[in-house]
Amino acid sequence: MPAPDLDTIVSLAKRRGFVFPAAEIYGGFANTYDYGPLGVELKRNIRDSWWRSMVRERDDVVGLDASLITHPRVWKASGHVATFNDPLVDCKKCQMRWRVDHLEEGDYGPVKRDAEGNIRCPNDGGELTEPRQFNLMFKTQIGTVADDSAIAYLPPETAQGIFINFENVVGSMRRKLPFGIAQTRVSFRNEITPGKFVFRTLEFEQMEMEYFCFPPKDRENPVEYLALHQEWIAYRLNWYIERLGIDPSRLRLRPHEKEELSHYSAGTTDIEYLFPWGWGELEGVAARTDFDLTAHGNESGHPLTYFDEESNQHVVPWVIEPAAGLTRTLAVTMLEAWDEETDARGEKRVVMRFKPSIAPVKVAVLPLSKNEALRPFARKVYDMVRPVYMTQYDETQSIGRRYRRQDEIGTPLCVTIDFQSVGEKGEAGDDAVTIRERDSQAQVRVPLSGLLDALRERLPGC
Ligand code: GAP
Repeated sequence: MPAPDLDTIVSLAKRRGFVFPAAEIYGGFANTYDYGPLGVELKRNIRDSWWRSMVRERDDVVGLDASLITHPRVWKASGHVATFNDPLVDCKKCQMRWRVDHLEEGDYGPVKRDAEGNIRCPNDGGELTEPRQFNLMFKTQIGTVADDSAIAYLPPETAQGIFINFENVVGSMRRKLPFGIAQTRVSFRNEITPGKFVFRTLEFEQMEMEYFCFPPKDRENPVEYLALHQEWIAYRLNWYIERLGIDPSRLRLRPHEKEELSHYSAGTTDIEYLFPWGWGELEGVAARTDFDLTAHGNESGHPLTYFDEESNQHVVPWVIEPAAGLTRTLAVTMLEAWDEETDARGEKRVVMRFKPSIAPVKVAVLPLSKNEALRPFARKVYDMVRPVYMTQYDETQSIGRRYRRQDEIGTPLCVTIDFQSVGEKGEAGDDAVTIRERDSQAQVRVPLSGLLDALRERLPGC
């Protein structure tokens, strides 16, 4: 069962240390968030899972980490300076600024209209200005002299860093087509957002891969290229289901209509998730053709081509690009993991049912109580497990409350140390601990010597 609404997740995220609204002590800073101790682990685990499936497990993809501050001509060549715009309107009364497409889709609440049918300001019903195009890139300045030659842009996507390194990677890694270059990195867009948690933020992380292949035999009817596009769509969809555990009934594929295609795309299919407010994009898998390599070749005067030994010719590769949002996927993973159930004693518990490989904490070590007699043994267990798995040690409050806390942050296994473990009243302990499983709440006793094997068995892929 996914979370019933976004507020449930926003509140859990803050209370349990996943995601905090940024700069709260200064009254907050719109559409920016900080990732807390558990959020940073969750984000890292999702990123690692993506990297494993896109780079490590494949023999045709390599990684890259390009500079964030990018030569301004990169964004001219890519088309972002000229076309990466949103149509915005201002309220003449309260001066609030809105995105026209979000207004029309009712993203800011029920659409308000005047007698003539014109959309009015969602905040105070005021009259809106005519739409104007605003570029979404953040401008910054290099050096101390503020002139045009010092302008740089923060990257609105990771892709361009990959294209401009195409030749470096081919040369240094002796790659043959087809092959991909993958990158995970922060991107920036100066967006007016409807304020849906980390769904759309000014600064966000992306996980992108550019897959370079031979140009199709027929540009007008690129059958083999479109088949490769479909292969990547299926591969990526499967990652959300198999690796993140997202229910396939809340995922769908949506091919773009011609008029909504980005300036570079010959075809894009979005992988969408059924958010509490409706379907929304998680990832776009775009058929970018040879647009970017050609554009950078033209702008720089340095053609970006691949020498095909078979045909003895230089060709400009075509590209398939799966582009996913890491921080948006984190929100989906949290929505999807949330569950609430009533146990046999009629007590409610909230459980984040993360896959073990994604869960921020894998094991919690919990002595039954704060009793001094338990502590040395419990610390020994903690010291044994901590180097292997992300582990928490907790001896405060009742054991029941600590189990609930671990359930709420999605810890798959708790290891409990009791008096039977250490012995009491002169009796020797059994040197064993209890493993408690998050989902079934089943408990099993294992000898300390077999604990790591028992954990390994229950934590596949971790
Ligand atoms: N290079 C292609 C590209 O950037 P995109 O569809 O604009 O394509 C890819 O972005 C993914 O990045 C989106 O599917 C979404 O998950 C994420 N994304 C885009 N803008 C975002 C924002 N403002 N906040 C959070 N995630 C965002």
